[in-house]
This record gives sequence, structure tokens and C-alpha cells, in this order.
Amino acid sequence: MLTPVSTQRAPDGSPFQLVTLKNPAGTTATFMDWGATWLSFVLPLADGERRELLLGCQSPEEYVNQSAYLGATVGRYANRIARSQFQIDCKPHLLVANQGVHQLHGGPEGFNARRWKILNYTEQKVSFQLVSPDGDQGYPGELTAEVHYVLTDDNRLEISYKAQVDKLCPVNLTNHAYFNLDGEGHDVRKHRLQLFAERFLPIDSDGIPCADLTSVQQTGMDFRTPKTLAQDFLKDRDQQRVKGYDHAYLLYATCNASDNPAANLWSSDDKVKMTVFTSAPALQLYTGNFLNGTPNRTGGQYANYSGVALESEFLPDSPNHSTWPQPSCWIKPGQTYRSATVYQFFAL
Ligand code: BGC
Repeated sequence: MLTPVSTQRAPDGSPFQLVTLKNPAGTTATFMDWGATWLSFVLPLADGERRELLLGCQSPEEYVNQSAYLGATVGRYANRIARSQFQIDCKPHLLVANQGVHQLHGGPEGFNARRWKILNYTEQKVSFQLVSPDGDQGYPGELTAEVHYVLTDDNRLEISYKAQVDKLCPVNLTNHAYFNLDGEGHDVRKHRLQLFAERFLPIDSDGIPCADLTSVQQTGMDFRTPKTLAQDFLKDRDQQRVKGYDHAYLLYATCNASDNPAANLWSSDDKVKMTVFTSAPALQLYTGNFLNGTPNRTGGQYANYSGVALESEFLPDSPNHSTWPQPSCWIKPGQTYRSATVYQFFAL
């Protein structure tokens, strides 16, 4: 169902357009063209409750006034690029900075802050497209991106990305949904998480990688066996630098977008489980350490740790680290960037 929101205008002066998908189980997933943003996911539970599992704002225009990237499609390069630069042909190439000297999530006007074109939609599918011009946020070449969302009968939200460029450019697209499987207004640290990764990337207080990939063994970063986010919260110096978990994990090489999950997450009341599958090499675990003040669904504000993001990505700052054990993030003209992530929800 397509709903133009006629009373509120986006920064480009046109109305926001919302699309709601619905499956035969009664689950709904809502998206908007601004930022190709995932606004809502409502799952019917066994006891009749219909539970909202995503953080979000009360109205579309509030998304423009927040810097948490709630549900947004993030690009061209999700996560951070140190000092907003990389090398092309051994020459420094400068991007537009938006977090001190660094670039975060594609720059000050990243893909989250753009009107995406709705290519088509049906009851259980919607596709968006964005053309990003040469030089956009400092990136070389024109890039055409597509994101496809499919809501399956078995409550999988399948997200697939595709992009092409006309100049060599690093590409890293993700969705920045924050989940709270207990519903709105609960501390997400009570959730149990399992993450299929043996190594994570240490970062400095700016979120910039500051050491090589490091084993999670015997640290609070280890989620190979399920544990609550609270259990080892702030235990490691790595967490203390950034007020909690805000780290990229290199997934097991066997993880994929269909049958070997990257992560499992359980609500604290054990009524909802989410499983994440992805073709991406890494997952950023972010416990909402800086969510304070973000507009919520009821006209109030979120507190820190109100939701958790599990962002499928290349490792942060990959354009400057060609030796890390993952596929190249650089896309050449004629090649197609593809990435797929599935969030599957279970009412237990
Ligand atoms: C980053 C956080 C940042 C958040 C919102 C996450 O992906 O890792 O450091 O605060 O996005 O910008």
C-alpha cells in the first residue's frame, strides 16, 4: 500500500511517500522514500499482542531531525573513513567530513538524507533507486544504487543492495535499523545476543580502527555463546572508549545470506527472536550509546541503549586497509556491487 503523506514535506519540498508491506501472517513492514528508510516492523505474537520491533519517530519529518540514522539506508560508504580520505592511483582523494575530520555514513548528505525513487512495489515487495552524482560527498563518479525489500510469508525481511559506478569507488551499503524486541521503552541491554565472529576491530574514541583484528576470546566482546548485552557491558577498555558496544565483527567465513546466520537476538521476555543472515563480511554491533535525545514514536525522546543496531558491512575504513581478510570494497565501472541481508523474526 502506497501512502503519500500530504501534510508534511521533506527538505526537497515534496511529500514523503510511505509503502506498507503485509504478509498473510499479519506482519507489516513500512518504508519511506526519504532515505529508503525502514520505518516499522510489527509482528503479531502468540498471545495476540502486535509488537513494534524497530525504533522510529512519530512522523516522517522527524527523521530529518535526528542523527541516529534510524532505519535509514546508509551509503556510499557505511561506517567511518579515517580523515575523510583514501588513495586512488597513489594520490590522496578527499571526501566531505561530517564527524570531526572523519567521514561517517557517507558524509553530511549521505544516502539517508536523499529522496529515493520508488521503482515498484507489490503487497510484499518494494524497490528504491538513487542516482548519486559524480563528486557527491566527495566520492568519485556517478553511482546508481538500488535497494529491494521483501517481506516473506515466514517473517523474513530480505534486503538486497545493488550498485554500479562509472569511476572506481568504494561502496558499502547497509541499513541502520535499531531493534528492540521487547518493544519501545525498554533497555535493550537485557536482550541476549549471539554473534558468529571470532575477531573484532578495536577502535579509538573517534570510532576509527586503531589496531588489527583481535580475538574476542577472554574478553567481553565475545558473543559466540549467547549472553545478554548487559553481562559484560563496559568491561573492556575497547567498550569504555565509546560508551558500550560500537564495534565491527569479522563474521565467520561460513556465514551467508541464506542458511548460516551471522547473529541471533532474543527479547528479554523470550517472546521474540531475530536471526540475521548476511553476505557482508562484517557486522557492526552498536548498542545505541549516543541515542539520548533522538525523537521516539510517542513524542518523547529515546534514552541511550534503547535499541541495538546490527549493521551488515565491510569493515570500517576498509578503503585504507586493503590487507584485511575480506573481499575488496572497491567497485570498478562495469562491475556490480551486491550485498544481501535478512532479518528473520520469530514469535516464540
Ligand atoms: C556508529 C555509531 C554512531 C551511529 C549513529 C553507528 O553505525 O557505529 O558510532 O553513533 O552509527 O551515527
